[in-house]
Amino acid sequence: MINKYLAAPIAAALYFLYPSNARLLRAIFIQAVGGLESGELCSQTLRRIFRDYHRVKIGLYSHGECFIPGAFDCHTTVGRYCSIARGVRVMNRNHPLEFKSTHAYFFNPRLGFSPADQVDFIPLNIGNDVWIGANALILPNVRRIGDGAVIAAGAVVNKDVPPYAIVVGNPARIVRFRFPPDVIEELLSGRWWEKPIEELKPAEFCQPYPLGVPECDARSQSRNIHNQADVLSA
Ligand SMILES: CC(C)(COP(=O)(O)OP(=O)(O)OC[C@H]1O[C@@H](n2cnc3c(N)ncnc32)[C@H](O)[C@@H]1OP(=O)(O)O)[C@@H](O)C(=O)NCCC(=O)NCCS
Repeated sequence: MINKYLAAPIAAALYFLYPSNARLLRAIFIQAVGGLESGELCSQTLRRIFRDYHRVKIGLYSHGECFIPGAFDCHTTVGRYCSIARGVRVMNRNHPLEFKSTHAYFFNPRLGFSPADQVDFIPLNIGNDVWIGANALILPNVRRIGDGAVIAAGAVVNKDVPPYAIVVGNPARIVRFRFPPDVIEELLSGRWWEKPIEELKPAEFCQPYPLGVPECDARSQSRNIHNQADVLSA
């Protein structure tokens, strides 16, 4: 038994040592590994670390907040070529609403009270070429964010997001699609993201798409399917 006069200063020291040290060490590892393998865009070791220690699978060329430990709950899969901005958080389970208490003691065995894990994580699958804006929150009942989708800064997403939809707000609603339906179909079947970056051509990717269609026309076409977006978001 620790002397009661020592308990408070030891607890205070542990308080100061625990979170800062663990996070610092992890940050140093991540920085070092990324540095050794040309950064998070391509590092295979970082991807192994996140897959094995955090149970977050991150596809090649995806980058950003998904490489912050704990930012994405376990059982999250991120496709290839995704951009995840600062402050994005993915939550894949709720506390139990139907138990006597929602406190973690009563469902998380790591706290030493509950005999087993009582709440499953709901796997989330984020597609390819998804851009998630700063500080967006993805809530536990979301299972799929489609290829090419855009989540606006600060959005709170509580439903699945279809491919190439742009969603904004709290709760997130679809404001438009990035492209007209025929172009979306072509992109989804073409699966360009399966190619390595060396095989992609700047002339195809570094300007508005589809090629030859002025940006304003493409934008107004995608706005014309706003009604479709309303149906999907209902
Ligand atoms: C969503 C976004 C991509 C713009 O998409 P867009 O289709 O061009 O959207 P528009 O600017 O035409 O706005 C469409 C509607 O969405 C609303 N909107 C746009 N961004 C929004 C946001 N972040 N939150 C809430 N509403 C937003 C607009 O007010 C507009 O609403 P209205 O139709 O009722 O007037 C952009 O606003 C955004 O959030 N970008 C993320 C930036 C970021 O996080 N960068 C981090 C570095 S990677």
